[in-house]
Amino acid sequence: MAMLRNSNAEPLECQEDFKGHLVAITGATSGIGYVTAREYASHGANLLVINRNKEKTLNLCDEIKREFGVECKYKLADFAHISEVKKVGKELANSDLNIDVIIHNAGVYLPERTLSDDGLEMVFQVDHLSSFILNFILKDKLKAQQKCRIILVNSEGHRFAILGLKLDDLTWQKRSYSGLKSYGSAKTAQLLTMIKFNDYFRNSGVTINAMHPGNVKTNMGEESTGLFQRVFIEPSYRSPEISAKALYYLGISKDIEGVSGKFFNLTYEEEPAPPALDRKVAEKIWDLSIKLGRLA
Ligand SMILES: NC(=O)c1ccc[n+]([C@@H]2O[C@H](COP(=O)([O-])OP(=O)(O)OC[C@H]3O[C@@H](n4cnc5c(N)ncnc54)[C@H](OP(=O)(O)O)[C@@H]3O)[C@@H](O)[C@H]2O)c1
Repeated sequence: MAMLRNSNAEPLECQEDFKGHLVAITGATSGIGYVTAREYASHGANLLVINRNKEKTLNLCDEIKREFGVECKYKLADFAHISEVKKVGKELANSDLNIDVIIHNAGVYLPERTLSDDGLEMVFQVDHLSSFILNFILKDKLKAQQKCRIILVNSEGHRFAILGLKLDDLTWQKRSYSGLKSYGSAKTAQLLTMIKFNDYFRNSGVTINAMHPGNVKTNMGEESTGLFQRVFIEPSYRSPEISAKALYYLGISKDIEGVSGKFFNLTYEEEPAPPALDRKVAEKIWDLSIKLGRLA
């Protein structure tokens, strides 16, 4: 009920500016990431966008600089390649950039089972493992900064993983693949590792929260004419402007200063599904993510 009520609500808004602060956003070339980049830039924030497509990225940065007069730095990484994500993570960890907000937004929904060149299921890799790798590599730097808000663009779709994660079959070899369940599993994995990151960042000044950005019309799920589209997206399409307003609020509002480890539907706190709160599984997926990301 809370999910339905919150999904139809208007997000809380924050009107303060964010001049001179640095905001990193992944997947800023379309949909929610793009509108969010513009929202932050319109309030004076400098941007660091992490995208896979160079041409779209150059166009985006030109547009941002021209329209808002702020900085727009960029890094390129295809999140379907672990090595590219790690390279960007290490470059940022070794940089003297002070990152005020990191928005992990890049994501896909795939109706068919697809394996990456790393041999992993693509949605798990792009929607969970890549943000995990970036956060893991950056965690000491962020702690040293003593201030940063990490926001995971997650989804109410995590609830599709009704039975939780199948840790012995993350590549969907033993079960028949379902786009909804694989999407739900990847988002559940992200929520579970948030529990561990939250432990790590406790009392450090760094917070980590996850959010559902609303059911909004973007490129996501476009190739799907099936259940995902009909059940999850189409009935309640809204504009990605609401996602951007919510992500701006979660990134800068004083109302949630120090709040960490929570799941928000837009700007309203909600209880995630039970499989996303299981500490024992959180420990396991944390270890597995370190192993799969070759981070140990
Ligand atoms: N739309 C919704 O209703 C909805 C609901 C709940 C959650 N979400 C979440 O919101 C986030 C953004 O989705 P969206 O709806 O804005 O979708 P979108 O319009 O398809 O945007 C996805 C973004 O992720 C990037 N991306 C995709 N695959 C990538 C890869 N392999 N490497 C690097 N970047 C990659 C895309 O880059 P390109 O431009 O190069 O394709 C694009 O910038 C996702 O995490 C999604 O799960 C969306």
